[in-house]
Amino acid sequence: MKIFIDTANLDEIRKVSSWGIIDGVTTNPSLIAREGKDVKTCLRDITKIIDGPISAEVMSLDAEGMIKEGIELSKVHSNVNIKLPMCVEALKATKKLTLMGIKVNVTLIFSAQQALLAAKAGASFVSPFVGRLDDIGEHGTNLISNITQIFANYSFDTEIIAASVRNPIHVLEAALAGCDIATVPYKILQQMVSHPKTDEGIKKFMSDYNNLKKHNTDA
Ligand code: E4P
Repeated sequence: MKIFIDTANLDEIRKVSSWGIIDGVTTNPSLIAREGKDVKTCLRDITKIIDGPISAEVMSLDAEGMIKEGIELSKVHSNVNIKLPMCVEALKATKKLTLMGIKVNVTLIFSAQQALLAAKAGASFVSPFVGRLDDIGEHGTNLISNITQIFANYSFDTEIIAASVRNPIHVLEAALAGCDIATVPYKILQQMVSHPKTDEGIKKFMSDYNNLKKHNTDA
């Protein structure tokens, strides 16, 4: 499974990039706004750190505007994908941008039917939001399983990005469902690395070895 980082923060991107496990980046208007920079500057900076797909969302809600913005954003770098919020206008824009060779990530996916339509329009990625489904009392990662099965049934090339990831269990369940990608916030990536038994084990190995060294020096 590919792992993207869900952030527009350059420090976080730089840090995880050094781990050697990051395949791409997703941003959204809220994440960009948090950095206080315009979207193009953010994207340009990110492309200097990560060599992989980077999603940037348009603000237009009509197909013509989405296409125009999408073309502009895609000029920043060939790795930039255009994120379109799911709606009829986004389907129209997905079809056109895809025909122009610009990859589209249809975002704010909350049902398998939405994902099916986005895939049919030619989307390269769909982003089901698992955490926001949990927020309204559903089991968000069930949606990932459904989309995975539908895309496999009909051999769609569209990749599924598990988005709105709020904890390591979301990543686990997405991986078990055969999801192509999980886009994960920095804090959750840190949680995925850690296990209390690992920390305990490292401490014990260090102290046993240091005791032996001390014993040999004293002898
Ligand atoms: C994904 O592409 C979105 O940027 C993101 O995962 C949304 O997450 P949130 O529901 O925690 O805001």
